[in-house]
Amino acid sequence: MRVLHVAAEVYPLVKTGGLADVVAALPAAQARQGAEVRLLLPGLPSVMDGVQHARPVIDIGSCFGALRVRLLLARMPGTGLPVYVLDAPYLYRRTGSPYGNHGGEEWPDNLQRFALLGWVAAHLAADDADLKWRADIVHAHDWHAALACAHVADHPASDVRSVFTIHNMAFQGLFPLHDWPLLGLASRHMSPAGLEFHGQLSFMKAGLQYAHRITTVSPTYAHEIATAEFGFGLDGAIRSRGADVVGILNGIDADVWNPAIDPAIAARYDDARLEGKRACREALQAELGLAADDDALLLAVISRLSAQKGLDLLLAALPQLAAAGVQLVLLGTGEPSLEAAFRMASEAHAGRVHVHIGYDEARAHRLLAGADAIVVPSRFEPCGLTQMYGLRYGTLPIVRRVGGLADTVHDAGGTQGNGFVFDEATPTALAAAVLRAARLRTQDPKTWRMLQQRGMAADLAWAGSARRYLQLYRDAAGSAGVPGAGR
Ligand code: ADP
Ligand code: GLC
Repeated sequence: MRVLHVAAEVYPLVKTGGLADVVAALPAAQARQGAEVRLLLPGLPSVMDGVQHARPVIDIGSCFGALRVRLLLARMPGTGLPVYVLDAPYLYRRTGSPYGNHGGEEWPDNLQRFALLGWVAAHLAADDADLKWRADIVHAHDWHAALACAHVADHPASDVRSVFTIHNMAFQGLFPLHDWPLLGLASRHMSPAGLEFHGQLSFMKAGLQYAHRITTVSPTYAHEIATAEFGFGLDGAIRSRGADVVGILNGIDADVWNPAIDPAIAARYDDARLEGKRACREALQAELGLAADDDALLLAVISRLSAQKGLDLLLAALPQLAAAGVQLVLLGTGEPSLEAAFRMASEAHAGRVHVHIGYDEARAHRLLAGADAIVVPSRFEPCGLTQMYGLRYGTLPIVRRVGGLADTVHDAGGTQGNGFVFDEATPTALAAAVLRAARLRTQDPKTWRMLQQRGMAADLAWAGSARRYLQLYRDAAGSAGVPGAGR
């Protein structure tokens, strides 16, 4: 099985969230299971600088507004997986995130940037680009790669099959319909049965309409996106694909997120020897200027600061939690209003609340190892990775029962307990869960330790889910055309 994963980000080269972690770890797990896996990425500066042994494959020439586009083949640092890189300086070589500038504005030419990615993916898979390699499956991640599915469906000489994974329904890649001619797609796809979405063109719909199989990153989110509450207007499109839509739970990279070997933390530990975790906790309190208070529940947040994550609930609950002795350490960046509000909260509760606005991978590891609990109060959460990192680090997750959080965290009150779960998206419900955790930790340390050990011993690695994807590829390979493909 030859698989081409197509995405805008991959750890450690470029990362804005969990997508990068998945695009690094899933292909590596599939390669260990015998699949022949390659990646295709846009040639962002950190990608061009970070890949190894790059050599040219083909000069693509001028397209999508760029005068010079080349396809390179290189190796990923760490895993050594083959990675194709699109070298298109005019489109990709600028500093900022893959999606926009430092000020949070989207790049004005995102349509061309990601149209190029999907177009090359389909041709590469179908043997048009690298005469030495082709793919059986194009696996497109999120809207950035979704056009690949439409081009695969259109390719006259291709028996390639496409799989589209939804990591987040909220980001759809919407552009003005009058930009349609820039896409390079046949005009028959310019309809509601194709890419049109309420008078705009939607990259995500290219995945939803034309992929042979659609996945999302947890079973619960697969159900949720078929409803108006979570579908962001595309729940009808999801429902119309019926059994072609499946939820496969993300795993975690058990080498990168492993307190027994983590070089970023103050002391190493595992489920049998938890003393190191105490050392990490003391080191974190000292580093961040928090009182060396043994009884305080030390709560961590590692998150994009966006409405999705429900952190406004935490802000509202903070006075009550601080008064009850809870300590909070937050690492995050995102919406300026949330950044400002958390900065103010840290001033109001100095010595009890520490806020670091920024993106810092090593600090994320220190927070996970040092905290007692990690809170993820999301309004919606396709999968969520930090609660699983918490489980692995003996840092009990406190989560809202939604999406992948509901699939991975079970309340301490039940027989499978490994954390704390609440239902209502209210500060009161969140505060009650946090205070329940604080009480359990001080009043029943034996149960707390049992919960820690259960989480740490759980198998959260990718092997099982990677195998499920491989089975899905085999099913797709045996399938005929797709609805709407117009073949
Ligand atoms: P999402 O993809 O919606 O942001 P996930 O929980 O799936 O949420 O993944 C978030 C990833 O980004 C995790 O690897 C987390 O550790 C990381 N992360 C988020 N914010 C930061 C930050 N400010 N600094 C370092 N890592 C962060
Ligand atoms: C998205 C989702 C997150 C998920 C990640 C990786 O960014 O918001 O829930 O864990 O993708 O699939």
